[in-house]
Order: sequence, then structure tokens, then C-alpha cells
Amino acid sequence: MNRAAVLTGLGSTVPDRVVTNEMLAARMDTSDQWITSRTGIRERRVVEPGTATSDLATEAGRRALKSAGVDSVDALVLATTTPDHPCPATGPTVADRLGLGTVPAYDVAAVCSGFLYALATAAGLIALGTADRVLVIGAEAFTTIIDPDDRTTAPIFGDGAGAVVLEAGDESQRGALLGFDLGSDGALADLIIVPAGGSRRKTSADAGDHFMKMQGKTVFTNAVRRMASSSRSALARTGWGPGDVDWLVGHQANVRILRAVADELGLPEERAFVNLAKYGNTAAASIPLALDDAASAGLITAGDRVLLTAFGGGASWGAVTLEWPDLPRN
Ligand code: COA
Repeated sequence: MNRAAVLTGLGSTVPDRVVTNEMLAARMDTSDQWITSRTGIRERRVVEPGTATSDLATEAGRRALKSAGVDSVDALVLATTTPDHPCPATGPTVADRLGLGTVPAYDVAAVCSGFLYALATAAGLIALGTADRVLVIGAEAFTTIIDPDDRTTAPIFGDGAGAVVLEAGDESQRGALLGFDLGSDGALADLIIVPAGGSRRKTSADAGDHFMKMQGKTVFTNAVRRMASSSRSALARTGWGPGDVDWLVGHQANVRILRAVADELGLPEERAFVNLAKYGNTAAASIPLALDDAASAGLITAGDRVLLTAFGGGASWGAVTLEWPDLPRN
């Protein structure tokens, strides 16, 4: 039987600077009413100039290690869309700053699905016996790729980081990652894209090409469809029905998306955890940030059956199930 990856620690962090909807409305053609009613977002956290993804990732990682009561791991996997530099990966920098020595450390890029992809690769390292303990971080200084004057993206995104520790164990243990489902559709690559800065177009005279563009409406419908179908596959692999789920912790993109996914699965809306009013969409950071918020608030408790699901750029999507472990409160 495969060795299971068991969640044993959790932590998160957000930058101090709060940008409210009113602050955005003062500088662009939008309103608190529009943003709140269309997305559920009321404010977001934004990094100060000079703060990078590794700064947030290191702090979230430190908190997750403390929560697990450990100070070493065998590998680090960092999910991010906003690495400190195009080259090298940011994972090794974070491992070094956490004093983790020369362990394998690398980045996973799957935008808003990144954390679930990172969990899957970490679970793979554990299943193979390559690692007994892995630190998995989702971290984003996402606002660094957002045009602060673009009303179609600036209200949506924010910065933050969350992390978990996974340890080798067995499937019967609380915290074991159970049924995974992952998928992608590259035909939809243009839905969420930073046109310049990669090998296709390294630089652009138009500074706006270095900011993310999003086809919001199409993203919305695909997000609902894929998060619901991926959730169904993960549930089927686990042997659970939707009625077994205590908490749906979906990628925090839009409250209407989360409610629609719950609805498609036949779950009451209250089972969908929502914290995006405070943080907006923090891409790869959103699921661990939501888990830490929900657990710290005492909402998700030991033994709860939890379903995680996400959709993001690529397009990419995924879902995974677990029974919530007994973790010390942060
Ligand atoms: N303030 C005020 N009006 C705005 C606005 C803003 N910030 N942004 C767009 N609008 C306007 C549009 O110009 C449009 O006006 P028009 O009807 O005169 O053309 C109108 O509001 C509706 O715009 P539309 O883009 O169709 O709105 P929407 O209901 O689809 O909501 C999003 C837009 C972005 C909130 C929504 O599509 C969404 O959440 N998509 C998913 C995004 C996402 O989660 N991405 C992350 C990857 S998972």
C-alpha cells in the first residue's frame, strides 16, 4: 500500500497594508457596491514595494513548521505565480532562509490551482519514499503583476501566503490526503495571461503587457464547471458522497463562484468556507490561507471531512479530500 501524506502543521501570513474597496474607488471608476456585489471582496492585502514572494513564503513556512512542532523537512515545494525572479526558482531561497539546509526545493506554477498541484507533488515524494516530511507553501506577491489602474483586475487580487507540513503516514490517519483529481486545458491559456516577460515575448514597449489580463466572465463559468466536476472525481476516489462533506474549502476567487460550486454539488451554501472579503483572490496562497483562517476560528475541527478545490490560469484545476487532523491552534 502507498504511504499516505498526512497534514501535521499549518500556518499563514498576509502583508500589513490593507487596501479597501473605497480606496480603489477613490482612484478608478468602480465602487464598493459593485465590487462587493459582484465578488464578495471588501478589502485585500498588498505588499509594500520591495517585499517579494519569498518574504511571505518564509514567514508562512516558519509558522507551519512551528505548528507541526518540527524544524526540519526533507523537501520544500513552493506554489507561486510570482516568483522573486524569472530565474532561479524561489523555493531554494525560502528553504535557505528557513534554515532547512540543502533539501530539494522547487517551484510549482499552476496559478490559482498551484497549491493543490504542490500538495500532489509533495504527496508523490512521500509515496516514493524520497521524503518523509515535506513543507508545502502557496505564496504570492500577486499584486506585483496587477495593473493598479485596471478596474477589471485590481479589485480582485491580493497578496498572502499559507503553508502546510505533510508527513508520511497511513490513509487511516486523520489529515491523510485521500482522493486527488487534477486537470488542465491549455486551449484556454489566454483566459488568464501575462503577455510579456516570458520566452514568447521577453519584453514589451507597452508596460501594460507585463501585467495580468483576465477574461473574467469566461473564467467564471469554467471555474464553476471544473471545480464541481473535479470535486466529484475526488469524492468518488475517496468513496464519499457530497453529503459526507463538512467543509468545502474552495479557491477564494469570488463568493458567487464558491456558492455556485456548492450548489452544483448539492451542498448547502454554509458548508462553503469564505474568507475572500478580507483578502481577495490570493491565487496559490488562497487555499492554505483559508484553511488557516477556518481552523484558527474553530470552524473546521478535528474529524471534519474537508474537500479542497481550485481553478486557475492554464487553465488548470484540481481537488483533494481529507479528514481534518488534530492541530494545535495558532
Ligand atoms: N467596477 C465597476 N464596473 C466594472 C468593474 C469594476 N471594477 N469591472 C468591470 N465593470 C463593468 C464592465 O465594464 C461591464 O460593463 P458593461 O456592461 O457596460 O460592459 C460590467 O461591469 C460587467 O462586467 P463583467 O466583466 O461582465 O462582470 P462580471 O459580472 O463577469 O464580473 C468579475 C466580473 C471579474 C468579478 C467576474 O467575471 C469574476 O469574478 N470572474 C472570475 C475571476 C476569477 O476568479 N479569476 C481568478 C482565477 S480563478
